[in-house]
Amino acid sequence: MKAINVGLLGIGTVGGGTWTVLTRNQEEITRRAGRPIRITAVADRNLDLARSLVGDNIKLTDDAFALVKDPDIDIIVELIGGYTTARELVLAAIENGKHVVTANKALLAVHGNEIFAAAQKKGVMVAFEAAVAGGIPIIKALREGLSANRIQWIAGIINGTTNFILSEMRDKGLSFDAALKDAQKLGYAEADPTFDIEGIDAAHKATLMASIAFGIPVQFDKAYVEGITKLQAKDIRYAEQLGYRIKLLGIAKRKENGVELRVHPTLIPSKRLIANVEGAMNAVLVQGDAVGATLYYGKGAGAEPTASSVIADLVDVTRLHTADKHHRVPHLAFQPDQLTDFPILPIEEVETAYYLRMRAADKPGVLADITRILADLEISIDAMLQKEPDEGEDQTDIVLLTHLAREKSVNAAMAKIEALSTIAGKVTRIRLEELNG
Ligand code: HSE
Repeated sequence: MKAINVGLLGIGTVGGGTWTVLTRNQEEITRRAGRPIRITAVADRNLDLARSLVGDNIKLTDDAFALVKDPDIDIIVELIGGYTTARELVLAAIENGKHVVTANKALLAVHGNEIFAAAQKKGVMVAFEAAVAGGIPIIKALREGLSANRIQWIAGIINGTTNFILSEMRDKGLSFDAALKDAQKLGYAEADPTFDIEGIDAAHKATLMASIAFGIPVQFDKAYVEGITKLQAKDIRYAEQLGYRIKLLGIAKRKENGVELRVHPTLIPSKRLIANVEGAMNAVLVQGDAVGATLYYGKGAGAEPTASSVIADLVDVTRLHTADKHHRVPHLAFQPDQLTDFPILPIEEVETAYYLRMRAADKPGVLADITRILADLEISIDAMLQKEPDEGEDQTDIVLLTHLAREKSVNAAMAKIEALSTIAGKVTRIRLEELNG
Protein backbone atom coordinates (compact mmCIF):
# COMPACT_ATOMS: atom_id res chain seq x y z
CA MET A 1 0.00 0.00 0.00
CA LYS A 2 1.16 3.52 -0.80
CA ALA A 3 3.11 5.14 2.05
CA ILE A 4 1.97 8.32 3.76
CA ASN A 5 4.68 10.95 3.40
CA VAL A 6 5.95 12.92 6.35
CA GLY A 7 8.01 16.10 6.29
CA LEU A 8 10.02 16.70 9.46
CA LEU A 9 10.74 20.26 10.58
CA GLY A 10 13.77 19.99 12.88
CA ILE A 11 15.91 16.93 13.44
CA GLY A 12 17.26 17.61 16.92
CA THR A 13 16.71 15.31 19.89
CA VAL A 14 13.03 14.48 19.30
CA GLY A 15 13.30 14.56 15.50
CA GLY A 16 16.25 12.15 15.67
CA GLY A 17 14.30 9.89 18.04
CA THR A 18 11.31 9.96 15.69
CA TRP A 19 13.48 8.87 12.78
CA THR A 20 15.11 6.09 14.84
CA VAL A 21 11.88 4.63 16.26
CA LEU A 22 9.98 4.91 13.00
CA THR A 23 12.81 3.08 11.22
CA ARG A 24 13.28 0.44 13.93
CA ASN A 25 9.58 -0.38 14.36
CA GLN A 26 8.49 0.26 10.76
CA GLU A 27 6.91 -3.15 10.32
CA GLU A 28 4.74 -3.08 13.45
CA ILE A 29 3.80 0.55 12.90
CA THR A 30 2.67 -0.26 9.35
CA ARG A 31 0.55 -3.16 10.64
CA ARG A 32 -1.12 -0.74 13.02
CA ALA A 33 -1.53 2.23 10.68
CA GLY A 34 -2.63 0.22 7.64
CA ARG A 35 0.05 1.68 5.41
CA PRO A 36 3.72 2.63 5.77
CA ILE A 37 4.57 5.97 7.37
CA ARG A 38 7.75 7.39 5.79
CA ILE A 39 9.74 10.49 6.58
CA THR A 40 10.49 11.59 3.03
CA ALA A 41 11.85 15.08 3.71
CA VAL A 42 13.63 16.90 6.52
CA ALA A 43 14.13 20.62 6.97
CA ASP A 44 16.86 21.69 9.36
CA ARG A 45 19.32 24.55 9.56
CA ASN A 46 22.13 22.07 10.09
CA LEU A 47 22.13 20.01 6.90
CA ASP A 48 25.31 18.13 7.81
CA LEU A 49 23.75 16.94 11.05
CA ALA A 50 20.56 15.98 9.22
CA ARG A 51 22.56 14.05 6.61
CA SER A 52 24.57 12.23 9.26
CA LEU A 53 21.30 11.02 10.84
CA VAL A 54 19.10 10.18 7.88
CA GLY A 55 21.54 9.71 4.98
CA ASP A 56 21.12 11.01 1.44
CA ASN A 57 18.10 9.10 0.24
CA ILE A 58 15.49 11.60 1.37
CA LYS A 59 14.99 15.26 0.59
CA LEU A 60 17.06 17.54 2.83
CA THR A 61 16.54 21.27 2.88
CA ASP A 62 17.22 24.26 5.07
CA ASP A 63 14.07 25.93 3.74
CA ALA A 64 11.24 24.87 6.07
CA PHE A 65 8.78 27.20 4.30
CA ALA A 66 9.35 25.33 1.04
CA LEU A 67 8.79 22.01 2.79
CA VAL A 68 5.38 22.97 4.21
CA LYS A 69 4.23 23.68 0.63
CA ASP A 70 5.71 20.52 -0.89
CA PRO A 71 2.86 18.75 -2.73
CA ASP A 72 4.43 15.33 -2.02
CA ILE A 73 4.08 15.75 1.76
CA ASP A 74 0.91 14.63 3.60
CA ILE A 75 1.85 15.33 7.22
CA ILE A 76 4.18 17.96 8.67
CA VAL A 77 5.87 17.17 11.99
CA GLU A 78 6.87 20.43 13.68
CA LEU A 79 9.72 19.98 16.16
CA ILE A 80 11.50 23.31 15.98
CA GLY A 81 9.78 24.87 19.02
CA GLY A 82 9.16 28.53 19.83
CA TYR A 83 6.20 30.78 19.12
CA THR A 84 7.09 32.79 16.03
CA THR A 85 8.52 30.85 13.10
CA ALA A 86 6.78 27.70 14.31
CA ARG A 87 3.42 29.52 14.22
CA GLU A 88 4.02 30.74 10.67
CA LEU A 89 5.12 27.30 9.53
CA VAL A 90 2.20 25.48 11.14
CA LEU A 91 -0.32 27.95 9.71
CA ALA A 92 1.33 27.68 6.28
CA ALA A 93 1.22 23.87 6.46
CA ILE A 94 -2.49 23.99 7.34
CA GLU A 95 -3.16 26.48 4.56
CA ASN A 96 -1.51 24.03 2.17
CA GLY A 97 -3.81 21.23 3.35
CA LYS A 98 -1.23 19.33 5.41
CA HIS A 99 -2.03 17.59 8.67
CA VAL A 100 0.28 18.67 11.47
CA VAL A 101 1.86 16.78 14.36
CA THR A 102 3.63 18.95 16.90
CA ALA A 103 5.38 18.67 20.27
CA ASN A 104 5.21 22.44 20.72
CA LYS A 105 3.29 23.16 23.95
CA ALA A 106 4.28 26.82 24.03
CA LEU A 107 2.90 27.39 20.54
CA LEU A 108 -0.42 25.67 21.24
CA ALA A 109 -0.90 27.14 24.72
CA VAL A 110 -0.49 30.64 23.30
CA HIS A 111 -1.74 30.38 19.69
CA GLY A 112 -3.79 27.18 19.89
CA ASN A 113 -7.20 28.80 19.32
CA GLU A 114 -6.00 30.41 16.08
CA ILE A 115 -4.27 27.22 14.91
CA PHE A 116 -7.19 24.88 15.70
CA ALA A 117 -9.67 27.25 14.02
CA ALA A 118 -7.51 27.35 10.87
CA ALA A 119 -7.20 23.54 10.90
CA GLN A 120 -10.94 23.13 11.39
CA LYS A 121 -11.67 25.42 8.47
CA LYS A 122 -9.25 23.57 6.23
CA GLY A 123 -10.37 20.11 7.41
CA VAL A 124 -6.96 18.98 8.63
CA MET A 125 -5.80 17.50 11.92
CA VAL A 126 -3.37 19.06 14.38
CA ALA A 127 -2.18 16.39 16.80
CA PHE A 128 -0.10 17.16 19.89
CA GLU A 129 0.29 14.16 22.16
CA ALA A 130 4.03 14.89 22.51
CA ALA A 131 3.33 18.41 23.77
CA VAL A 132 2.22 17.26 27.24
CA ALA A 133 4.21 14.90 29.48
CA GLY A 134 6.46 13.54 26.70
CA GLY A 135 5.85 9.82 26.29
CA ILE A 136 2.77 9.55 28.52
CA PRO A 137 -0.36 9.29 26.33
CA ILE A 138 -2.26 11.75 28.52
CA ILE A 139 -3.90 13.68 25.68
CA LYS A 140 -5.35 10.46 24.29
CA ALA A 141 -6.50 9.40 27.76
CA LEU A 142 -8.21 12.72 28.52
CA ARG A 143 -9.66 13.23 25.08
CA GLU A 144 -10.83 9.70 24.33
CA GLY A 145 -10.34 7.22 27.16
CA LEU A 146 -12.14 9.39 29.72
CA SER A 147 -14.79 10.88 27.44
CA ALA A 148 -17.64 9.43 29.50
CA ASN A 149 -16.62 11.47 32.51
CA ARG A 150 -17.26 14.88 33.90
CA ILE A 151 -13.65 15.56 34.76
CA GLN A 152 -13.33 17.21 38.14
CA TRP A 153 -9.64 17.95 38.40
CA ILE A 154 -6.21 17.20 37.03
CA ALA A 155 -2.97 17.50 38.98
CA GLY A 156 0.28 16.75 37.22
CA ILE A 157 4.00 16.65 37.71
CA ILE A 158 4.56 17.77 34.16
CA ASN A 159 8.06 19.20 34.22
CA GLY A 160 10.86 16.71 34.71
CA THR A 161 13.60 19.29 35.29
CA THR A 162 11.90 20.81 38.32
CA ASN A 163 10.90 17.41 39.67
CA PHE A 164 14.56 16.37 39.44
CA ILE A 165 15.61 19.54 41.29
CA LEU A 166 13.01 19.03 44.03
CA SER A 167 14.03 15.38 44.43
CA GLU A 168 17.68 16.43 44.80
CA MET A 169 16.76 19.11 47.34
CA ARG A 170 14.87 16.55 49.42
CA ASP A 171 17.26 13.60 49.10
CA LYS A 172 20.50 15.51 49.58
CA GLY A 173 19.32 18.57 51.51
CA LEU A 174 20.65 20.79 48.70
CA SER A 175 19.72 24.41 48.12
CA PHE A 176 17.74 25.26 44.97
CA ASP A 177 20.85 26.76 43.32
CA ALA A 178 23.00 23.68 43.99
CA ALA A 179 20.28 21.31 42.74
CA LEU A 180 19.82 23.43 39.59
CA LYS A 181 23.56 23.16 38.88
CA ASP A 182 23.29 19.35 39.16
CA ALA A 183 20.33 19.37 36.77
CA GLN A 184 22.33 21.42 34.27
CA LYS A 185 25.37 19.14 34.58
CA LEU A 186 23.21 16.11 33.84
CA GLY A 187 21.61 17.82 30.84
CA TYR A 188 18.08 18.04 32.31
CA ALA A 189 17.92 21.82 32.56
CA GLU A 190 18.81 24.08 29.66
CA ALA A 191 21.62 26.64 29.96
CA ASP A 192 18.69 29.10 30.28
CA PRO A 193 16.32 27.09 32.43
CA THR A 194 13.76 29.90 32.90
CA PHE A 195 10.78 28.13 31.30
CA ASP A 196 11.29 25.08 33.51
CA ILE A 197 12.11 26.62 36.89
CA GLU A 198 9.63 29.49 36.63
CA GLY A 199 6.79 27.05 35.91
CA ILE A 200 6.08 28.35 32.41
CA ASP A 201 6.62 25.01 30.65
CA ALA A 202 4.31 23.29 33.16
CA ALA A 203 1.72 26.05 32.69
CA HIS A 204 1.75 25.54 28.91
CA LYS A 205 0.98 21.86 29.48
CA ALA A 206 -1.63 22.49 32.18
CA THR A 207 -3.35 25.00 29.88
CA LEU A 208 -3.72 22.36 27.16
CA MET A 209 -4.99 19.73 29.59
CA ALA A 210 -7.54 22.16 31.08
CA SER A 211 -8.99 22.89 27.65
CA ILE A 212 -9.39 19.22 26.81
CA ALA A 213 -10.76 18.34 30.22
CA PHE A 214 -13.35 21.09 30.47
CA GLY A 215 -14.12 22.06 26.88
CA ILE A 216 -12.80 25.62 27.09
CA PRO A 217 -10.51 27.55 24.70
CA VAL A 218 -6.78 27.58 25.51
CA GLN A 219 -6.03 30.49 27.84
CA PHE A 220 -2.40 30.47 28.92
CA ASP A 221 -2.57 34.19 29.71
CA LYS A 222 -5.07 33.49 32.52
CA ALA A 223 -3.01 30.76 34.21
CA TYR A 224 -1.42 31.51 37.58
CA VAL A 225 2.27 30.60 37.32
CA GLU A 226 4.75 30.33 40.18
CA GLY A 227 8.02 28.42 39.87
CA ILE A 228 10.33 26.79 42.41
CA THR A 229 13.15 29.34 42.58
CA LYS A 230 12.19 30.65 46.02
CA LEU A 231 11.76 27.26 47.68
CA GLN A 232 14.05 26.70 50.63
CA ALA A 233 15.49 23.37 51.72
CA LYS A 234 14.00 23.91 55.16
CA ASP A 235 10.45 24.08 53.77
CA ILE A 236 11.00 20.71 52.14
CA ARG A 237 12.22 19.40 55.52
CA TYR A 238 9.33 20.85 57.53
CA ALA A 239 6.82 19.55 55.00
CA GLU A 240 8.38 16.09 55.35
CA GLN A 241 8.00 16.26 59.14
CA LEU A 242 4.31 17.05 58.67
CA GLY A 243 3.83 14.09 56.29
CA TYR A 244 4.04 15.96 52.96
CA ARG A 245 6.31 16.26 49.93
CA ILE A 246 6.64 19.41 47.85
CA LYS A 247 6.08 19.03 44.10
CA LEU A 248 5.62 21.54 41.30
CA LEU A 249 2.07 20.73 40.23
CA GLY A 250 0.05 21.86 37.24
CA ILE A 251 -3.52 21.97 38.50
CA ALA A 252 -6.77 22.38 36.56
CA LYS A 253 -9.87 22.17 38.72
CA ARG A 254 -13.55 22.59 37.91
CA LYS A 255 -15.35 24.80 40.42
CA GLU A 256 -18.95 26.00 40.45
CA ASN A 257 -18.10 29.44 39.06
CA GLY A 258 -15.12 28.66 36.84
CA VAL A 259 -11.87 26.78 36.42
CA GLU A 260 -8.79 27.02 38.59
CA LEU A 261 -5.71 26.88 36.37
CA ARG A 262 -2.49 27.16 38.31
CA VAL A 263 1.10 26.00 38.55
CA HIS A 264 2.97 26.33 41.83
CA PRO A 265 4.98 24.35 44.37
CA THR A 266 2.47 22.26 46.30
CA LEU A 267 2.53 20.17 49.46
CA ILE A 268 0.96 16.77 48.82
CA PRO A 269 0.63 13.90 51.31
CA SER A 270 3.73 11.66 51.18
CA LYS A 271 1.52 8.59 51.09
CA ARG A 272 -0.04 9.44 47.70
CA LEU A 273 1.46 7.51 44.78
CA ILE A 274 2.11 10.74 42.90
CA ALA A 275 4.14 12.11 45.81
CA ASN A 276 6.63 9.31 45.16
CA VAL A 277 7.32 10.28 41.56
CA GLU A 278 11.01 11.13 41.74
CA GLY A 279 13.76 12.47 39.51
CA ALA A 280 12.89 13.61 36.00
CA MET A 281 9.77 11.44 35.75
CA ASN A 282 6.29 12.87 35.06
CA ALA A 283 2.89 11.80 36.36
CA VAL A 284 -0.64 13.07 35.89
CA LEU A 285 -3.53 12.33 38.23
CA VAL A 286 -7.03 12.79 36.79
CA GLN A 287 -10.24 12.68 38.80
CA GLY A 288 -13.37 11.86 36.80
CA ASP A 289 -16.86 11.48 38.25
CA ALA A 290 -17.38 7.98 36.87
CA VAL A 291 -13.90 6.50 36.87
CA GLY A 292 -12.61 8.11 40.08
CA ALA A 293 -8.88 8.79 40.20
CA THR A 294 -6.57 7.53 37.44
CA LEU A 295 -2.80 8.01 37.40
CA TYR A 296 -0.52 8.15 34.36
CA TYR A 297 3.24 7.84 34.87
CA GLY A 298 6.28 7.86 32.61
CA LYS A 299 9.08 9.79 30.99
CA GLY A 300 8.14 13.37 30.26
CA ALA A 301 11.04 14.14 27.94
CA GLY A 302 13.85 12.55 25.95
CA ALA A 303 14.33 11.44 22.37
CA GLU A 304 12.51 8.11 22.18
CA PRO A 305 9.79 8.70 24.83
CA THR A 306 8.73 11.89 23.06
CA ALA A 307 9.07 10.18 19.67
CA SER A 308 6.69 7.52 20.97
CA SER A 309 3.99 10.19 21.23
CA VAL A 310 4.88 11.85 17.92
CA ILE A 311 4.57 8.51 16.13
CA ALA A 312 1.31 7.62 17.89
CA ASP A 313 -0.07 10.85 16.42
CA LEU A 314 1.29 9.93 13.00
CA VAL A 315 -0.53 6.59 13.24
CA ASP A 316 -3.77 8.35 14.27
CA VAL A 317 -3.55 10.81 11.41
CA THR A 318 -2.75 8.02 8.94
CA ARG A 319 -5.77 6.04 10.07
CA LEU A 320 -8.15 8.99 10.03
CA HIS A 321 -7.04 11.30 7.26
CA THR A 322 -9.50 9.85 4.75
CA ALA A 323 -12.40 9.98 7.25
CA ASP A 324 -15.03 12.68 6.93
CA LYS A 325 -13.64 15.64 8.90
CA HIS A 326 -16.77 15.70 11.07
CA HIS A 327 -16.06 12.16 12.21
CA ARG A 328 -12.59 12.81 13.54
CA VAL A 329 -11.72 13.38 17.20
CA PRO A 330 -12.03 17.15 17.85
CA HIS A 331 -8.75 18.92 18.57
CA LEU A 332 -9.82 19.93 22.07
CA ALA A 333 -11.98 16.83 22.75
CA PHE A 334 -15.25 18.80 22.59
CA GLN A 335 -16.86 19.73 19.27
CA PRO A 336 -15.52 23.19 18.30
CA ASP A 337 -18.97 24.81 18.52
CA GLN A 338 -19.42 23.30 21.99
CA LEU A 339 -16.50 25.04 23.72
CA THR A 340 -17.78 27.19 26.59
CA ASP A 341 -16.69 30.51 28.02
CA PHE A 342 -16.56 29.09 31.54
CA PRO A 343 -14.03 31.55 33.07
CA ILE A 344 -10.58 30.87 34.47
CA LEU A 345 -10.73 32.07 38.08
CA PRO A 346 -8.22 34.68 39.30
CA ILE A 347 -5.80 33.30 41.90
CA GLU A 348 -7.46 35.38 44.66
CA GLU A 349 -10.60 33.26 44.19
CA VAL A 350 -8.77 29.93 44.45
CA GLU A 351 -9.68 27.78 47.42
CA THR A 352 -7.07 25.40 48.77
CA ALA A 353 -5.17 24.58 51.97
CA TYR A 354 -1.96 26.37 52.92
CA TYR A 355 1.43 25.90 54.53
CA LEU A 356 2.50 29.11 56.24
CA ARG A 357 5.96 29.52 57.76
CA MET A 358 6.96 32.52 59.80
CA ARG A 359 9.89 33.59 61.96
CA ALA A 360 8.54 34.62 65.35
CA ALA A 361 9.83 35.88 68.66
CA ASP A 362 9.78 33.05 71.19
CA LYS A 363 7.66 34.73 73.87
CA PRO A 364 4.17 34.49 75.37
CA GLY A 365 1.20 35.61 73.28
CA VAL A 366 2.81 35.37 69.83
CA LEU A 367 0.93 32.25 68.82
CA ALA A 368 -2.30 33.69 70.23
CA ASP A 369 -1.89 36.81 68.03
CA ILE A 370 -1.34 34.69 64.93
CA THR A 371 -4.26 32.34 65.58
CA ARG A 372 -6.56 35.32 66.30
CA ILE A 373 -5.73 36.86 62.92
CA LEU A 374 -6.48 33.57 61.21
CA ALA A 375 -9.70 33.02 63.19
CA ASP A 376 -10.95 36.54 62.38
CA LEU A 377 -10.56 35.71 58.69
CA GLU A 378 -12.26 32.33 59.19
CA ILE A 379 -9.11 30.40 58.38
CA SER A 380 -9.00 27.19 60.37
CA ILE A 381 -5.72 25.59 61.44
CA ASP A 382 -5.17 21.90 60.67
CA ALA A 383 -1.67 21.29 62.07
CA MET A 384 1.25 23.16 63.60
CA LEU A 385 4.98 22.76 63.98
CA GLN A 386 7.15 24.90 66.20
CA LYS A 387 10.90 24.48 66.27
CA GLU A 388 13.00 24.92 69.39
CA PRO A 389 14.97 28.16 68.96
CA ASP A 390 18.61 27.46 68.05
CA GLU A 391 21.19 27.94 70.80
CA GLY A 392 21.49 31.65 71.63
CA GLU A 393 18.53 32.62 69.37
CA ASP A 394 15.32 34.21 70.61
CA GLN A 395 13.39 33.64 67.40
CA THR A 396 11.91 30.44 66.06
CA ASP A 397 10.18 29.05 62.97
CA ILE A 398 6.45 28.44 63.28
CA VAL A 399 4.75 26.41 60.58
CA LEU A 400 0.98 26.23 60.25
CA LEU A 401 -1.12 24.11 57.94
CA THR A 402 -4.60 25.46 57.30
CA HIS A 403 -7.81 23.80 56.24
CA LEU A 404 -9.37 24.98 52.96
CA ALA A 405 -9.33 28.77 52.71
CA ARG A 406 -9.74 31.35 49.99
CA GLU A 407 -6.49 32.83 48.69
CA LYS A 408 -7.60 36.42 49.23
CA SER A 409 -8.30 35.71 52.93
CA VAL A 410 -4.87 34.13 53.25
CA ASN A 411 -3.28 37.19 51.58
CA ALA A 412 -5.02 39.40 54.15
CA ALA A 413 -3.91 37.15 57.02
CA MET A 414 -0.30 37.14 55.81
CA ALA A 415 -0.24 40.94 55.63
CA LYS A 416 -1.57 41.19 59.20
CA ILE A 417 0.83 38.58 60.54
CA GLU A 418 3.78 40.32 58.85
CA ALA A 419 2.73 43.58 60.53
CA LEU A 420 3.05 42.07 64.03
CA SER A 421 6.10 43.41 65.87
CA THR A 422 6.90 39.86 67.01
CA ILE A 423 7.23 38.55 63.43
CA ALA A 424 10.48 38.96 61.48
CA GLY A 425 10.33 39.30 57.70
CA LYS A 426 7.79 37.76 55.34
CA VAL A 427 5.51 34.79 55.76
CA THR A 428 6.37 31.92 53.39
CA ARG A 429 3.23 30.51 51.77
CA ILE A 430 3.03 27.20 49.90
CA ARG A 431 -0.31 25.82 48.74
CA LEU A 432 -1.37 22.33 49.81
CA GLU A 433 -3.55 19.79 48.00
CA GLU A 434 -4.75 16.56 49.59
CA LEU A 435 -5.47 15.00 46.14
CA ASN A 436 -7.94 12.59 47.70
CA GLY A 437 -10.85 13.20 45.37
N1 HSE B 1 11.78 20.76 29.74
C1 HSE B 1 10.70 19.85 29.94
C2 HSE B 1 10.89 19.10 31.26
C3 HSE B 1 10.56 18.82 28.85
O1 HSE B 1 11.87 19.32 31.97
O2 HSE B 1 10.04 18.31 31.59
C4 HSE B 1 9.93 19.39 27.62
O3 HSE B 1 8.69 19.93 27.89
